[in-house]
Amino acid sequence: MDALKRQAAARALEEVRSGMKLGLGTGSTAKHFVDLLGEKVRAGLKVVGVPTSEATRAQAEACGVPLTTLDDVDHLDLTIDGADEINPALDLIKGGGGALLREKIVANASDRMIVIADETKWVERLGRFPLPVEVIPFGLAATQRAMTEAFAKAGVSGQMVLRKAGAGDGHVFVTDGGHWIIDVRLGEIEDPPRLAGLLSAIPGVVEHGLFIGLGSTAILAGAQGIRVIQ
Ligand code: 5RP
Repeated sequence: MDALKRQAAARALEEVRSGMKLGLGTGSTAKHFVDLLGEKVRAGLKVVGVPTSEATRAQAEACGVPLTTLDDVDHLDLTIDGADEINPALDLIKGGGGALLREKIVANASDRMIVIADETKWVERLGRFPLPVEVIPFGLAATQRAMTEAFAKAGVSGQMVLRKAGAGDGHVFVTDGGHWIIDVRLGEIEDPPRLAGLLSAIPGVVEHGLFIGLGSTAILAGAQGIRVIQ
């Protein structure tokens, strides 16, 4: 699986040109991309990147990829990022790695977003992967009640689980922005844009992992080779 992720990352690298301002995604697939990009930069490619997480920032710095911020550039040419699920409309579920807020800000500031993944991420309908919803800790129970209402309006229901840190010591996972994440097992989401709109309207929801209309291209690596979907 890791080899497939690297193949997708390598194919995405072919889309990068000297002078580009890039959004750098987060996760194990995006990590391959940053690694390969670093090799090119060390060989003379001139790009600047905006990282979507502190983890990606650290990796990019270690690889020698020059970084900038969204305050210092007027737009990004291209963002390359992974995803937890991709449907035929190129709508996505993201946030398995907890970086969905910065990932969405960066993708939205980009002319194009290339999603890189292994074939297992391709689904007819989004929702098998638990939907990450980034929330403000204040008023958590009220936010969860509002989320339940939003799910009912969108014709889905789901079990909400507050994400814990990986260490297994019971600590809540805290995002780079200082927020918490609720993972929601929904099953098939019939109308992802509608659910996205309903969740965005809840005050305690900072952002959610439905990326609607942001993906321009998906590069999927499978046993049969690479598929590029526009
Ligand atoms: C992080 C993300 C990742 O892109 C997503 O979880 C996919 O990760 P991986 O490439 O490790 O499967 O959204 O917030």
